[in-house]
Amino acid sequence: MITSPSGKLIVFEGIDGTGKTTQLSLLARALSDRGLPVVSTREPTDGKYGKKIRELYRNRGSVNLQEELELFLADRREHVRELLGPTLQAGKIVLCDRYVLSTVAYQGAAGLDRDEIMAQNSFAPIPDLALLFQASPETGIARITGKRGESPNDFEQVETLTRVAEIFASLDQPYIRRIDATGTIATIHESVISAVEHVIKQYQSR
Ligand code: TMP
Repeated sequence: MITSPSGKLIVFEGIDGTGKTTQLSLLARALSDRGLPVVSTREPTDGKYGKKIRELYRNRGSVNLQEELELFLADRREHVRELLGPTLQAGKIVLCDRYVLSTVAYQGAAGLDRDEIMAQNSFAPIPDLALLFQASPETGIARITGKRGESPNDFEQVETLTRVAEIFASLDQPYIRRIDATGTIATIHESVISAVEHVIKQYQSR
C-alpha cells in the first residue's frame, strides 16, 4: 500500500452501532474549530457502486461473496481516485467512516480469506490512524434497533457481528488505536481526541 503523501488519513472502524459516525462528526467539528482543513467521507460511498451496495443491505443473497467483495473494492477504487487521493495530495485531513479493515472484518467473517482481502486493497492509501471502536455485538444491535429506530440490515445480525468483532479484535496493524465505545458520547469523544493528538502534531509539523 502507498502512504498518504502530505495530508492525513484517519479512518473509523468497528462493528455497527458503536457510535463511529457520531464520533466522526464530533472530531470533524473539533478539528475545524482549531482551523484545520478537514474533509469527512464514508464507505460505502454515495457513488454508483456505493448505491448498489446499499441496495444489497435489504437482500444480500442476490450476489455471491466474491461479487459482493468486488463491489466494495470498486467503490473504494473510485473513492481513492476521485476523493481520497486528491484530498490527501492537497494536504488535507480526511476522516473516513469505514475503510479497508471493514472489508477484512465483514467479508472475512462471511468466509473470504483475510490476507487476500488485504492484498487486494494494496491500491488504497495506508491510514495514518485507524480508530477501532469496540463494543459488544449486543450493544451494537441494541443501539441500532433502539436509538436509531431501524431494524438490523443483512450485515448486522448478532452472529455475523460476533464474527466480525472477533476479526476486528485480532487485527494488529501498527496504525490501529482501540477506542472503548461503551461510555458516553462525551467520554468517547475525549478518547478520540487523545488518540488523534499525535497525528495532528505530525501534521502541524510537516
Ligand atoms: P454503515 O453505512 O452503517 O457503516 O453500513 C455499512 C455496512 O457495510 C456495514 O454493515 C458494514 C458493511 N461493509 C462491509 O461489509 N464491507 C466493507 O468493506 C465496508 C466498507 C462496509
